[in-house]
Amino acid sequence: KKVVLAYSGGLDTSIILRWLQEEYRCEVVTFTADIGQGEELEPARKKAEMLGIKEIYIEDLREEFVRDYVFPMFRANTTYEGVYLLGTSIARPLIGKRLIEIAEETGADAISHGATGKGNDQVRFELTAYALKPDVKVIAPWREWDLNSRAKLIEYAQNHQIPVPKDKHGESPYSMDANLMHISYEGKALEDPWVEPDEDMFRLTVSPEAAPDKAEYIEIEYKNGDPVAVNGEKLSPAAMLTRLNELAGKHGIGRLDLVENRFVGMKSRGVYETPGGTIMLTAHRAIESITLDREEAHLKDELMPRYAELIYNGFWFSPEREMLQAAIDHTQKTVNGVVKLKLYKGNVIVVGRQSPNSLYRMDYVTFEEDTVYDQYDANGFIRLNALRLRLGKMARG
Ligand code: ARG
Ligand code: SIN
Repeated sequence: KKVVLAYSGGLDTSIILRWLQEEYRCEVVTFTADIGQGEELEPARKKAEMLGIKEIYIEDLREEFVRDYVFPMFRANTTYEGVYLLGTSIARPLIGKRLIEIAEETGADAISHGATGKGNDQVRFELTAYALKPDVKVIAPWREWDLNSRAKLIEYAQNHQIPVPKDKHGESPYSMDANLMHISYEGKALEDPWVEPDEDMFRLTVSPEAAPDKAEYIEIEYKNGDPVAVNGEKLSPAAMLTRLNELAGKHGIGRLDLVENRFVGMKSRGVYETPGGTIMLTAHRAIESITLDREEAHLKDELMPRYAELIYNGFWFSPEREMLQAAIDHTQKTVNGVVKLKLYKGNVIVVGRQSPNSLYRMDYVTFEEDTVYDQYDANGFIRLNALRLRLGKMARG
């Protein structure tokens, strides 16, 4: 019996590792991914070795994360409940997929993760796992064990030779999840939705008040709906998001504080920093504004909340998400060109857009005299559109 564990190297997943060895008497394979969380991975290897792990997987998934998950999601201008850019939600299927691939490679029959029984992440990991390996076993320690307080966890660690960081006793000030897209903060002081977060909580952005007094202009080039260059410099997907994070972070762009509806049925308060993603959302809408047909754009906007909900709820690997993705991607062939933006104290302001595939026609829209459009045509257009309104008013009063 063998289990692949999504292992961060932190206290909680180290406890899980030991617990799996003790309770299930099984061999544990660890998987640690760099998805841009900004932490060294070598300490995770050291710790896994120390805990007796022989098969240790450590991988840099940053390019795959942005290219195959983040960018496809942004093609739909995706937000959950109007504002959340899904930074955590979009990373889970990738981690889940690698867990399963590693299980196949190492002959493991189970996977395990450190998500609690109250949240969305457990659903996302496990729906991914079952979608890709229908007979997989899933071990979710948080739903099984009785280590449900900080004190019990620390005690377990101390009794099992797991090093507990002395300074904080393993206590992080918030429940955080970080990757190249975002950092999320939940729990502790944030659980009261009336209480404003401390300024020193934020790590990716300065406050808008502390941002430079001078605006900064940037140009982003799009190809097939994905950003490919900033200020003329071509960048790989991960390098693109890294660059946009720096630019936005410096200008206080991308903070969000919201109470959202979890899939499991409760509301939760989350605070997010999504600097680069916030620029990408605005820039992508701007390039679409001149390159998409009206009905194409509007239908996309109607489908988007469903698409967002699928990602939030963990259905990335589902027939319906793939069906929507095909439709979304189909629209992006002409989404090419450059967007000019002004970054200023928490704001992303579109100031220009141009495209070789532009549908914008100055000759038609001009307020000056034109030679292409007959204003008289609007008479019949409006009269027929008004017909049922007039007949209705006559009949119903
Ligand atoms: N509420 C957000 C979401 O469901 C963030 C979850 C953060 N996860 C975590 N393990 N801290 O996508
Ligand atoms: C967790 O429960 O592990 C974090 C919160 C969530 O998944 O929604």
